Amino acid sequence: MVHLLLLLYFTQLRTAIMQHQGVTLWFTGLSGSGKTTIAKAVERELRIRHCKVEMLDGDIVRTNLSKGLGFSKKDRDINVRRIGFVANLLSRNGVVAITAAISPYRTIRDEIRQMTENFMEVYVNAPLDICEARDVKGLYALARAGEIKNFTGIDDPYEEPLNPEVVCYTDQESIEESVAKVIAELWCVIS
Ligand code: ADX
Repeated sequence: MVHLLLLLYFTQLRTAIMQHQGVTLWFTGLSGSGKTTIAKAVERELRIRHCKVEMLDGDIVRTNLSKGLGFSKKDRDINVRRIGFVANLLSRNGVVAITAAISPYRTIRDEIRQMTENFMEVYVNAPLDICEARDVKGLYALARAGEIKNFTGIDDPYEEPLNPEVVCYTDQESIEESVAKVIAELWCVIS
């Protein structure tokens, strides 16, 4: 069933993308919530169907475009604005620009929404205790031990989106279900 729905959406989606409509697909959520996993799966599905797509992953951006920035509010804002700037350039040229950064501050996300023509916010919503239990990179343990300061969710804020286009509950749904929700909404935004 999910596959049939995906097929239908992709057929329509491909037509829209071939008409050069881009979109900024903005994933936000805690570290370990599943942003990168879902974003990569969406990217893969779009590439298979020859859609123009580019991914700006938080961890990767921080090794080049935002190299040297830390995790103060000021540095996070610079980082997130840079990602938004590049995503906007791409999406206005017909690319599906997928971003996956924590982007913890609502005002900056909303600022990017305002300056971007087709903006779609995906809140990857997993409770802190689940993200912490997953602790894929071992960073929550370090943050709890006080070895990393200003860690999002521990001693630094995460402001939930108030009106995201999609919410993925990664503690309750499969990756395939999350991907299908994102693709369905993507079609609504660019059609
Ligand atoms: S953002 O706040 O500026 O959007 P970004 O997504 O680029 O953050 O980077 C988050 C990643 O950096 C996390 O997934 C984690 O691997 C790593 N990291 C290192 N220090 C911190 C910290 N203090 N808070 C959050 N993430 C951190």
